[in-house]
Amino acid sequence: KTPKRLIAVSNRLPIRIVNDGGEKRVVPGAGGLVTALAPVLRDRGGIWIGWSGAPHDPDLSGLIHQASKKTGYHLKAIPLSEEDIKLYYHGFSNEIIWPLFHDLQTRCRFKPSYWYQYLNVNKKFAEAIRQNAGPKDYIWVHDYHLMHVAFLMREMGCTQKIGFFLHIPFPPMDIFLKLPWRKKVLEALLQYDLIGFQTMRDKRHFLNSLSQLIREVKIRGRGSISSVDFKGRSIRIGAFPISIDYQSFARDSSSKEVAEAAWYLHEALPERQVILGVDRLDYTKGIPERLCAFKNALEHYEELRGNVSLVQVVVPSREEVPEYQELKAEIERLVGEINGRFTTSGWIPIHYLYRSLDRTELLAYYRLAEIALITPLKDGMNLVAKEYCACNLDEKGVLILSEFAGAAAQLHRGAIMVNPYDVEGVSKAILKAYRMPYEERVKRMKHLRRVVKRKDIFWWVNTFLKTAFAKDLTAFPVG
Ligand code: UDP
Ligand code: G6P
Repeated sequence: KTPKRLIAVSNRLPIRIVNDGGEKRVVPGAGGLVTALAPVLRDRGGIWIGWSGAPHDPDLSGLIHQASKKTGYHLKAIPLSEEDIKLYYHGFSNEIIWPLFHDLQTRCRFKPSYWYQYLNVNKKFAEAIRQNAGPKDYIWVHDYHLMHVAFLMREMGCTQKIGFFLHIPFPPMDIFLKLPWRKKVLEALLQYDLIGFQTMRDKRHFLNSLSQLIREVKIRGRGSISSVDFKGRSIRIGAFPISIDYQSFARDSSSKEVAEAAWYLHEALPERQVILGVDRLDYTKGIPERLCAFKNALEHYEELRGNVSLVQVVVPSREEVPEYQELKAEIERLVGEINGRFTTSGWIPIHYLYRSLDRTELLAYYRLAEIALITPLKDGMNLVAKEYCACNLDEKGVLILSEFAGAAAQLHRGAIMVNPYDVEGVSKAILKAYRMPYEERVKRMKHLRRVVKRKDIFWWVNTFLKTAFAKDLTAFPVG
């Protein structure tokens, strides 16, 4: 009997190809999706179908094959041309859906050519799945780049169960309605068997758009799982907050290597408290707004001067999109302005790192930071918030968290909640965190760590798979 495998499908394979002085190398990719899924497929085997991250090049297949051996499951690369990358990835995905779904519709470029190439590329993915998946395999498609895959597979006659998880927010109806292809996108999503969202709020927004735009649907159930009847099919809609491998973060951050790295880094930062920001370079992360709030805090609260430093890590991302280049310039201008104005001999207010960190360094920063300042304007979940808690072994760190991060639904009781647009509010939150007494810090952090530990990445995968493919759950021993 052929085993039922799991076929994971996402825009990006969990690898990145970099060009190192003419020589190509395979390195681990950045981003929440990769962090979340890699340990899962490693545990159970299967295939991960996705794009290599570079324009199609036959030499890549050897490198990816080698990476396959290291990852412990099969990798299947979808070749994308320069045109595909420009119109489907940078265009439709990152200049339409990404800003729109993060409520930033003025940043959208609704170009029809983006839409047509999105359909073409989704068809390439659908075709690759059709060729690689057995009739009984379970298919789990991820994220906003691939909303049409199930629809195109159904057109090819595929009948497998297909689950879909949206890692980014689903916008309120008024915003979704701006999308020129809104009805087609909703109808395509209804060809999945399960559609998962990060939060109840995203799920509610989706159902609102559905009932507004598609008259034939019948929606049942208001809890964490609802059912939608549409053209003789029954589709389940649920909220499944993604998480992290809590144990591995907690364990690795207690290693000697991380402790030493944290010690060296803190030596170089003699201030009493370190405030940490870690984000991909993205306008949804609210980095300029955060810098303005930090400036406001230094202006108004003298006790912070010389006593806190902000370490802001910005991980390079989507460098070809003009908005991202402008954002980098804006962040660097603000960092320069604030440091130019407040630096004194022996104290630099902002330490700015524009690069990705290796795991030891990242964990060391998580461990040493007394305060994490996580203020996205909107975020599907924000794994950095959860990772910070998992690594906070001495339990005296304070989490300042945007109410517009998906993580807020779970972490609002232990964190100091802020509206990232409210410069004075965030500035006051920084002061409150700085002054917070030890007992309160510990009480809050203990609670946060419990919440993250209880619903970790294994809980997430298990719950999604159980809901999507319930009948054969034994096929998925998780955790
Ligand atoms: N991260 C990374 N490289 C770094 C710093 C962070 O890969 O140099 C990881 C971080 O550990 C986290 C992910 O990037 O798992 C970011 O996920 P999040 O959900 O916070 O935001 P996203 O980038 O997915 O929007
Ligand atoms: C977010 C998205 C992921 C994406 C990641 C990195 O987490 O939900 O699908 O992979 O950002 O972005 P990139 O465009 O580099 O893949």
